[in-house]
Amino acid sequence: MIVCVCKSVSDRTIRSSIAEGVDSFDELQFELGVASCCGKCEESVRDVMLQSGVCASRCGVEHHVQTAPLTFYERKAA
Ligand code: FES
Repeated sequence: MIVCVCKSVSDRTIRSSIAEGVDSFDELQFELGVASCCGKCEESVRDVMLQSGVCASRCGVEHHVQTAPLTFYERKAA
C-alpha cells in the first residue's frame, strides 16, 4: 500500500530498503524521498520503520503507543 503519495512509495518499498540496510529516517528520506514534499507521511513512515524492527532511536520516535492501525493515504482518481 502506498505510504507516501507525493513520491509514490509503498510500505513494501520501505521494508525492502530497510532489509537492504537503510536504518534511519534520514536515510529513507534521502533514498526514497519520503516525507520530503508535503510531509504528511512522516508518521506512517516511522511506524513502518518501527514495525520492521528499526529501533526507536533510529526511527526518531522514543515512545510508540499503538492506539490505531496505520493510516495510509489513498490516491483519488481525478
Ligand atoms: S505524502 Fe509523503 S511527502 Fe507527501
